[in-house]
Amino acid sequence: MATDSKETSEPGYSRHVFVCGNERPPGSQRGCCREKNSLEILRSMKNAARALGLADVRVQKSGCLDYCENGISCVIYPEGIWYSLSGEEDALKVVSSHLANGQVVEELLMDLK
Ligand code: FES
Repeated sequence: MATDSKETSEPGYSRHVFVCGNERPPGSQRGCCREKNSLEILRSMKNAARALGLADVRVQKSGCLDYCENGISCVIYPEGIWYSLSGEEDALKVVSSHLANGQVVEELLMDLK
C-alpha cells in the first residue's frame, strides 16, 4: 500500500490551508500578497502547525486567490473560510484557534462583499 512521507495510507487532510504567495511588479494597481510578506506568514503558520503537532493539517502557498486588495489572503478548506491576515500575530491566531480547535477567528474574516 502506498504511503506518504508521514506514513499515512489515506490521502487528504482534515484541513487544507492556502496562503497567497503571488507577486506582482512594484506599483501594480491591485498590489499583491507577497509585498505584504505573505511568504513569511506562510512559514510562521507551517511552523506553528508543526509545533502543535497538527500532522493532518496542510499549510501551503497558493497562487493569486483574487482577493488581492484584502490580502494577505488565506482560505481554509473544507470549511471555505477566508481570512485577511495582516501579520504574524493574525497567522498564529488562526493556527491556534481554527486549525487546532476548529474555532473560526471572527475578527480576521475577510470582507468578501
Ligand atoms: S495577490 Fe494575493 S490574492 Fe491576489
